[in-house]
Amino acid sequence: MAKVAPSILSADFSKLGADVQEICEFGADYIHVDVMDGAFVPNISFGAGVMKSLNNVATIPYDVHLMIEDPDRYIEDFVTPNTEFITVHQEACRHLDRTIQHIHSTGVKAGVALNPATPIVMVEDVLDKVDMILIMSVNPGFGGQKFIPRALDKIRRLDEIRKANGYDFVIEVDGGVNLQNCEELKSVGTDILVAGSAVFKAEDRKEAIAVLGK
Ligand code: DX5
Ligand code: ZN
Repeated sequence: MAKVAPSILSADFSKLGADVQEICEFGADYIHVDVMDGAFVPNISFGAGVMKSLNNVATIPYDVHLMIEDPDRYIEDFVTPNTEFITVHQEACRHLDRTIQHIHSTGVKAGVALNPATPIVMVEDVLDKVDMILIMSVNPGFGGQKFIPRALDKIRRLDEIRKANGYDFVIEVDGGVNLQNCEELKSVGTDILVAGSAVFKAEDRKEAIAVLGK
C-alpha cells in the first residue's frame, strides 16, 4: 500500500481543472504540484496563482514540490486550505533548519527533497523535524524521464534510519515511477509515490492510480 500523488506537470494545461477533478474522483491521495523557476532547474512550470485556481475543483490535498532557489521568498504564497505539504530542496536552502521552521510556522507540513547526487547525510540533522523526505529518482526539471535505480537503495537506507531512530517522516519518491517499478519501491519503504506520465499518459488513469496505490 502507498499513497499516490499524480504530478499535474504531466496534465493537459488546457484543461487542467478537468484533469485535476478526474484524478480526485479516481482515488488519488494528493495533487503533486511541481513548481519550477528556470534557475534551480532548467525549466519553468507555473506558480502559486495556477495552484490557487485549482482550489475550486480539488477535493484532495496539495503536495507542493518547490524546485526553486531560495524558497523562503515564496512559502506563504503556497499556503492554502488545501496545502498539506510544502517541500523544498536541500540544495536550494542555505539555512535548511530555518526554512523548515518557516514552513511549520504557516501551519503546513514540511518536506525536504534530495537530488539523485545528494546523499542522505545532508539531511541527517533535520530528520527529527521534517514531515517528509522526498527522494528524487530523476534529476528534477522535466516529467517523463527514466528512473534512476540507485534511488531504491537510498530509500531502503533512509527507511532503516527512520526505524532505528523512531522518526515519523514519510518517504516520497519522485521521477520515473511507473506500474512496473512501484512494487519494489513500496517494498523498500516508500509511503507516497509521485507519478506524472504513469497517470496522465495512461490509457486508463483510474486503473493506473489503483495499481500504484495497492
Ligand atoms: C520532476 C518532477 C516530477 C515529475 C514526475 O522534476 O518533480 O514530479 O513531474 O514526472 P514523471 O512521473 O513523468 O517522471
Ligand atoms: Zn515533483
